Amino acid sequence: MSALLVRYLPRTHTPVRSCNYGMAIARRNYPCKDFSSRSEFRTLYAIITGVPLQIWKLCPHASGVNSIQAIPAEAPTPRLQHIQFPLNAIEKSIVGGNLAILRALRRRANSASLPVYLVGGPVRDLLLGRPLKDLDFVVEGDAPAVARDVAQEVGGEVITYRRFGTATVALPDCRVDVVTARRETYARPGALPDTVAGNIYEDLARRDFSINSLAAPLAGDSPLLDPQGGRRDLEKGVIRVLHAASFLDDPTRILRAVRYEQRLGFRLADETLAQMLAAVQGGALATISGDRLRGELKRILEEASPAPALARAAGLGLLATIHPALGGEANIPEHLLPAAASAGPLVYMGILAYPLTVGQAEAVVQRLNMPGEWAKVVRDTVAVRKKEPALSGPDLPASHLYHLLEDARPEAVGAAACLSPSPAARERLSRYLTSLRQISPPLDGNDLLAMGAPRGTLVGRLLRQLHDARLDGQITTEPEARLLAQQWLAQEGDRTKDG
Ligand code: CTP
Repeated sequence: MSALLVRYLPRTHTPVRSCNYGMAIARRNYPCKDFSSRSEFRTLYAIITGVPLQIWKLCPHASGVNSIQAIPAEAPTPRLQHIQFPLNAIEKSIVGGNLAILRALRRRANSASLPVYLVGGPVRDLLLGRPLKDLDFVVEGDAPAVARDVAQEVGGEVITYRRFGTATVALPDCRVDVVTARRETYARPGALPDTVAGNIYEDLARRDFSINSLAAPLAGDSPLLDPQGGRRDLEKGVIRVLHAASFLDDPTRILRAVRYEQRLGFRLADETLAQMLAAVQGGALATISGDRLRGELKRILEEASPAPALARAAGLGLLATIHPALGGEANIPEHLLPAAASAGPLVYMGILAYPLTVGQAEAVVQRLNMPGEWAKVVRDTVAVRKKEPALSGPDLPASHLYHLLEDARPEAVGAAACLSPSPAARERLSRYLTSLRQISPPLDGNDLLAMGAPRGTLVGRLLRQLHDARLDGQITTEPEARLLAQQWLAQEGDRTKDG
């Protein structure tokens, strides 16, 4: 558990003038509970009695409050793992292809004196005692050649990216990046970097945050390399950039900072926050392509709990830079239903798109250069919202509900199930998502043909009627479906005879 201070920021997003409203205890990976209708006392009581909650919004009725964010009150003190031999610890926590590649590289580091290092996320996560994801290695030398050599030993494939001197070793169960140590320069803000081969210290100095700038040498039992004070910042629970121009050089780091901050329950160092806000106000996010912006947004949507990072991004005015209509308070998923979350990560894109007009939705689709799947979620969300009068009206048979929503992406339905102002619509949208959508027609065309149905449009019509009958609960079993189909076929036969 880590302590969170819930802070209210004025529209200017100037953190110095924020005021503190209370302490909350947050425990990650619990479903959001909505405490917005409760008094601060009730919330504090819940906290004191240990109710597990993840607070990202509190007391929205506080007057004059435009945006709200939850950030760590004081540097949490994550208990760092005291690891003497990081690589032995890493070997114990990985399996399969990752382990085979690590061992192959360790052998080369020890016998051929290859200067190779494990860097970034895995070292950070090892120290924090978090599960390790992908392994990233830096080589002082020709990384693609090393990757080819290792891939041959472990039976993997290599993909090389000559421009950056990087390579990926791919095995059925993992992908491992092997990168040439490099220095980077940026021709202009937001441009892709120009790179020159360098040493490990230069490579660590070009990175985004101190907590991602740790390296574990693979040779022998060497201690960690920590020239940027990453270990200290992990201990303090702080996200810190390595130099003042970091967010201007690479504005994707603005979203990355928020993602790590919320994932780890850390806080942005004061200077880092000030530099970020200055970069945002200076239009840094406008300098990067839609693909890069969407790539970072996608990584937020795929977090175990995207809501806090989205709330924080909205609070800092980041989403509004994608489009002014995005990122208002109303866009934050307060009532996220389990049903909606089950629709997949893009449900959060739907949640952001929910209040948009058709024109605004198109502008967002264009800005983020969305592929078909994303664009459909955005457009369908707006379309489903427009159907809400029908969705909230009296007497909506299940089959009608089904046909209102059948063409929409489930993520769009999930978003509307969270955010529709009508309780009746929310219930129906959830019901569609969790049950109706899974109900298929009880028979198929071949069944009907075998029962004597003539080939042609009648088969399609009867299948749809059978599906509707099943949705509306008139039939449940296959024998009931067959009986009904026989009756309809007999009536149809009589009608043809009469005709
Ligand atoms: N990196 C960077 N600037 C970026 C992106 C990445 O400096 N804009 C560096 C960081 O040192 C990061 C490493 O490249 O640790 C690998 O990037 P990525 O895979 O995105 O980061 P991880 O830390 O492995 O991320 P995650 O834990 O989310 O997988």
